[in-house]
Amino acid sequence: MTSSHRLMACLALVLALAVTTTACPLGFGGSGGTGGVAAARRALREAGWKETAAGEVPTDLGGFFIPSGGISAPCQNFPGCDGNTTWVEIIAQIKEQVSPDDDLCYWSWQTLPPPGATITAPGQYNYAPIHDQAIAVQEMGYTAYDRLNKEADPDTCTYGCGAAVWAGLAFGSEMTRYLCSVNASAEAGVCSEPYYNQVWRSPVAGAIWRFNGTNTQNLIEVVKEWRRSEQGHAPMINSPQIQQQGWGDGGSLTAKLFKCDDIPELYRGQFPAPPLFRPDGPLADAGMKFWLGTQGLLPGQA
Ligand SMILES: *[C@@H]1O[C@H](CO)[C@@H](O)[C@H](O)[C@H]1NC(C)=O
Ligand SMILES: *[C@@H]1O[C@H](CO)[C@@H](O)[C@H](O)[C@H]1NC(C)=O
Ligand SMILES: *[C@@H]1O[C@H](CO)[C@@H](O)[C@H](O)[C@H]1NC(C)=O
Repeated sequence: MTSSHRLMACLALVLALAVTTTACPLGFGGSGGTGGVAAARRALREAGWKETAAGEVPTDLGGFFIPSGGISAPCQNFPGCDGNTTWVEIIAQIKEQVSPDDDLCYWSWQTLPPPGATITAPGQYNYAPIHDQAIAVQEMGYTAYDRLNKEADPDTCTYGCGAAVWAGLAFGSEMTRYLCSVNASAEAGVCSEPYYNQVWRSPVAGAIWRFNGTNTQNLIEVVKEWRRSEQGHAPMINSPQIQQQGWGDGGSLTAKLFKCDDIPELYRGQFPAPPLFRPDGPLADAGMKFWLGTQGLLPGQA
């Protein structure tokens, strides 16, 4: 770490812990506990890592909200954010604090509720008027999942090798029920009970990226490439469904940090893709349950 990076890490840590001392606790570890986690959450939230809107992925147990633009964009309103520093760099500094010896995995979920979903009671959303959009979102979901999945596999990765860990996709109970009811599901197998009773109502996409202590600049480039490339996620981010028709309004990008080794192997590396079908339900739905129920690492927790 350069001294300016060390200073940023220190500032981030001091803020996250709501510590008023001017001494930088280098070699920090061990203390923290529940109070530290609560303080870190409060500080992160006040710094702009906001709680999500009601009904979106909750940010308890170490979850935090990433503003639009994603983790390769410059961060704001956080110590060390000078207009050029990205969230990737901030997370890399947090890794030095919470998991200096082991790879850290950033695990995010992007929710993609259909237009108006947040004001519609669970189970009541009517996809019929936006049938064509739902089909388009289904197709985009498979394409994005397939692409990120390839990057998560050492045998098929191109630019994301070692950095991309996992891709997850689930369409949620309501959209799956709708697509099945009109015979428009891309996979017949998913028209079954576990798929009609997912944690999530509407589409959700998961991604896991690996921080290994030396790949910070590589990660920034990989995530930027994923977001801007026509062969990556750009066609989805820039799609009419997202840009004009209100898909994703009220949705969120929410993440947690884990030691990679603490994530079950099911959610590391490629799952044969597509199809999504597994007899016990969407893999991403099981991943969401694990994510929701497991404490993520935050500064001050060690
Ligand atoms: C951000 O980067 C640009 C281009 O490298 C540079 O001109 C500018 O001074 C940087 N801003 C800060 C605050 O470091
Ligand atoms: C760290 O990750 C990068 C990919 O982002 C990889 O190229 C590099 O070999 C990894 N380093 C170690 C020590 O595993
Ligand atoms: C459902 O869709 C498939 C594929 O498009 C088609 O082969 C099948 O005949 C359809 N079934 C019904 C009942 O419409």
